[in-house]
Amino acid sequence: MCGIIGYVGKNPCVPYIIKGLKMLEYRGYDSAGLATLVDGEIKIKKVVGKVNQLEKIVVNNEEGYIGIGHTRWATHGEPTLNNAHPHIDCNGRFVVVHNGIIENYKELKDYLLGRGHIFRSQTDTEVIVHLLEEFFEENIVYSFKRVVEKLEGSFALVILDKNNPQSLYGIKRQSPLIIGLGDGEVFVASDIPALSLWVEDYIFPEDDQLAILNPKKLEIYNLKDKLEKLNIKPVKISKEKISIDKGGYPHYMLKEIHEQPTILREIFTEGIEKKGNFFFFKDFKEDDNLWKNINKISIVACGTSYHAGYFAKYLWEEELPYNVEVDYSSEFRYRKPKIDKNTLFIAISQSGETADTIAALRLAREKGAKILSLTNNLRSTIARESDLNLYLRSGIEIGVAATKTFMAELAFIFLLKEYIKQELYGENSINWDDLRKIPVYLEKILSESNLIKEIAYKYSKNKNFLYIARGKNFPLILEGALKLKEISYIHAEGVSAGEMKHGPIALLDENTPVMTIAVQDETYNKIFSNLEEVKARKAPIIAIATENDQKIMDVADDLIYVPKHNSKYYYFFVTIPLQLFAYYVAEKLEREIDQPRNLAKSVTVE
Ligand code: M6R
Repeated sequence: MCGIIGYVGKNPCVPYIIKGLKMLEYRGYDSAGLATLVDGEIKIKKVVGKVNQLEKIVVNNEEGYIGIGHTRWATHGEPTLNNAHPHIDCNGRFVVVHNGIIENYKELKDYLLGRGHIFRSQTDTEVIVHLLEEFFEENIVYSFKRVVEKLEGSFALVILDKNNPQSLYGIKRQSPLIIGLGDGEVFVASDIPALSLWVEDYIFPEDDQLAILNPKKLEIYNLKDKLEKLNIKPVKISKEKISIDKGGYPHYMLKEIHEQPTILREIFTEGIEKKGNFFFFKDFKEDDNLWKNINKISIVACGTSYHAGYFAKYLWEEELPYNVEVDYSSEFRYRKPKIDKNTLFIAISQSGETADTIAALRLAREKGAKILSLTNNLRSTIARESDLNLYLRSGIEIGVAATKTFMAELAFIFLLKEYIKQELYGENSINWDDLRKIPVYLEKILSESNLIKEIAYKYSKNKNFLYIARGKNFPLILEGALKLKEISYIHAEGVSAGEMKHGPIALLDENTPVMTIAVQDETYNKIFSNLEEVKARKAPIIAIATENDQKIMDVADDLIYVPKHNSKYYYFFVTIPLQLFAYYVAEKLEREIDQPRNLAKSVTVE
């Protein structure tokens, strides 16, 4: 969601802000803006649209040495210039950028209007600068404490104060904010990629801590309960070579789809340590007897990560002795889950910052569950708040549509199952030769993507799709439908093939194509019968099937073959055609594939 960057130091700030905002574009946004302090005057520039447009209206080298920038994903108020951040108070002293939601903003706004403040936007954010204006006094730290105590909800804030031109102020609660230390300069941002070109030393403030960001002296205060100055040591993270070019691909999404074989290779080698036929996860040390002591696994996640979690339920219940429950993170609290210290709670989140998943994790923690997370960011809130973490090793994913991180989630779900078996029964059933071949077969599927492109183009005019599958393939088909929806804006309904007769079959006609996974696994015969039912309704069928399957030709109109292999591993294969199909439909329709409308990469509000 919203991206934040701030800079104060020895160099002109605008180039850092623009570049940092570009590195945060992957989070999703609809407007952008920045504020700088030049010769004692605050200058604000905003656009509805992209950072490139903002770049065109700012002068790079003449705009001061202290500034803040923002990409906004609209929550309160439409994407307009007035609603774009930064926001400024009545007297032009305080300027703020904000990620999160101020839940009690209506009451605060009414109070501030009563005090004569003039609001220029419809945002929840604007109350913050008026509160500062109202309550600021000589003691800066105390002033922030008073203001922050009035706020309910989630926020990461960076504030520029015209009267204190050497310092920015940063403060967070349940939304991510990190500090980067340079040589004679300090940075603050929503996420590491925004700073990774310039910074190696990071500070990760906790909730309700105020950072006074001055290049000569960085101070951090605890504002909750007792006011106290803190001594937080920076953490070194080597400068990552995160390139913001697309490596020759027209979109990040396509680049990331093509990275999947390499990621799997890396996970199957670097992600684990082999000892004979046994293997262990790096930096993963669970309590003795954890696997014997737990009696249930409870998984929460959203979107694509939820589909990975749902897949885990199918895969694990087949071979592990636990009941596996899966919830959308946002629904978890409403069903009053029965979890306790014998539950292993698993949070799956590529970003590690999804607000709903964080909230569910905190609830599980209150109930005493052991917490394991799968994230692609070891510095994220979810990773930091977990007892155990598996790192997805996918590199930064820029396209809003999750692809390579989904593949990595599948890989860790498979490995974790085998690891638990090994710890419980003293054996795993991995055939390492079969495993090694998976990335090679993924490369083969990718090399044949022209056929998938042709099929995608053929169906790109259709307005509705049904996606059907059974068993383990069901969560995967749901993921395929989500991919099509989010980047092409076409309605795609994912349905369990067995459920089709109970309602969705009414949707079928010659204009409703059906996408299906019909590989030769334990679901094959049943899904085949379901496809006959589809055929009888004249709906075109696109089937992902096993190489050389002749029988499937009787029902399918279009076929995407995946290589024949150990059927235990087909889930890795079928994922790629579903991603490519969605990609090429969206490409044909000239959609904004990497930043689809209304979506954010990191959903940091509940
Ligand atoms: O970072 P997370 O894995 O927690 O994100 C969860 C969802 O927001 C995410 O998977 C979303 O559905 C993606 N746009 C899917 O492509």
